[in-house]
Amino acid sequence: MKPIILVSVISITTALVLYTIVVWRNWQLKLLTTAQIILLWLGLAADALATRMMGLSVEVTTWDLHTISGYAGLALMAGLAVAGTWAKWSGRQALLTSFHRFAIPIWIIWVVSYVTGVVIGIQRV
Ligand code: HEM
Repeated sequence: MKPIILVSVISITTALVLYTIVVWRNWQLKLLTTAQIILLWLGLAADALATRMMGLSVEVTTWDLHTISGYAGLALMAGLAVAGTWAKWSGRQALLTSFHRFAIPIWIIWVVSYVTGVVIGIQRV
């Protein structure tokens, strides 16, 4: 396995851990807090870094289930982070207390994309 792929797998797994902590804590509290938003952005940074490094490991991107689901998961998480930050800044109480209703389905889609990424990705190296 190329070192860049190894580092990106560690980075994407860090994103999985951070996203999972956020979604779990949010579901427990039924309230979106600043700490959760910070962890969500850190997870997104690890996700984006991993995606960039996987892209750098090849000359041309092959559009298949692995790459499409990877980008789709990243885009959904980016949308969630932006929506959560906006809800906090603008004090949308209804959204802050119902955030788990969006976060859990998006997290499930992201985890499916993670598993798909690992299963397909491992065959590429
Ligand atoms: C063992 C785990 C993994 C390995 C070995 C791996 C390996 C790779 C390789 C070799 C590529 C280049 C493929 C190509 O374009 O032909 C790639 C691309 C990509 N991977 Fe992974 N991957 C893994 C897990 C994941 C996971 C878990 C995700 C997302 C949740 C992911 C998201 C992506 C994305 C979005 C690209 C396209 C990047 C680009 O070309 O711009 N990968 N991966």
